[in-house]
Amino acid sequence: KRIKLIEVRSELGAGTRGASLGVDALRIACLNKGSDYFCRFNSVAVPDLNHVLFDKNHFPYAKHIDSVYTVQKNIANTVEQTLRLGEFPLVLAGDHSNAAATLAGIKTAYPHKTLGVVWIDAHADIHSPYTTPSGNIHGMPIAMALNEDNLECQRNVPEPETEFFWHRLKNLGEPGPKLSPEHLVYVVVRDTEHEENEVIKRHNIKNFGLAEFKEKGPKQVAREIYERLRYCDLVYVSFDVDSLDSRFSKGTGTPVKEGLNVEEAIALCQALLDNDRVVCFEMVEINPTLDSENTMARNAFDILEAATDTIQNHLHLADATSRQSRA
Ligand code: ARG
Ligand code: MN
Ligand code: MN
Ligand code: MN
Repeated sequence: KRIKLIEVRSELGAGTRGASLGVDALRIACLNKGSDYFCRFNSVAVPDLNHVLFDKNHFPYAKHIDSVYTVQKNIANTVEQTLRLGEFPLVLAGDHSNAAATLAGIKTAYPHKTLGVVWIDAHADIHSPYTTPSGNIHGMPIAMALNEDNLECQRNVPEPETEFFWHRLKNLGEPGPKLSPEHLVYVVVRDTEHEENEVIKRHNIKNFGLAEFKEKGPKQVAREIYERLRYCDLVYVSFDVDSLDSRFSKGTGTPVKEGLNVEEAIALCQALLDNDRVVCFEMVEINPTLDSENTMARNAFDILEAATDTIQNHLHLADATSRQSRA
């Protein structure tokens, strides 16, 4: 089994321009560090529609949602095909809205399996067009996957066309929810709005905050995450780089203080990815236009390399075991 890099240079869902260059910022960091990382894996690029950011936006409560839908269909298909070929999709994406499509792709490849999600992020990304304060779709992928409108906390009245595309996004791939709330675990989420807090409370979604993370350490946190996800057949780990403390994540659109340091992020990813059930890893929201030194991408690249090594060791082990059992 091999790793396949899926590069998604879409930034339609972000509020700040530049996340489309995140993949290339990682490639620059790789080159500067003298690593052969990007030569070791096959990669495929999903087409973006970033040119529409120069057009007028017609959807104030879900900006460019029509184009986001087109991009997401392609991402979902690419992830699904990768899994069907027996490869491990490692997604490097611009803004975090793309994660809803990754999830849809996994779910379409494995419609009868239960999926768990570990969401490492400063943000809960659980807004809908009915609650968003910004209209930025990168704040919505979890609500898409849960099929959650959160009308209990409605503050916006989106126009019918927004509702049309929102409905289609929620039903991307296999129609219906991709995820149930008890199979979602947040790590270091710390910048949420009232509407998000309400829906998190209503579904009783667990967040390992920074204090708990520091107290327990990455290994224990990973153990507890897998204890919570014990009924999940498959696990997907999504890493938003703003999970890092803002001191280490200058180059992201929405930096937040009191997050992980690079060593903690590496240890957490290693502990999580050292598990047979993980089928996909993703890194998002690197924006080098905000960071002339490219330190964000350099930090992110260190995390990516460590994460990839862990995944690869695991895939090799699994290959060896299946060879043995065939023999
Ligand atoms: N909650 C805020 C919003 O909806 C920020 C979301 C930031 N999300 C992200 N993936 N960086 O606009
Ligand atoms: Mn996010
Ligand atoms: Mn975030
Ligand atoms: Mn905020």
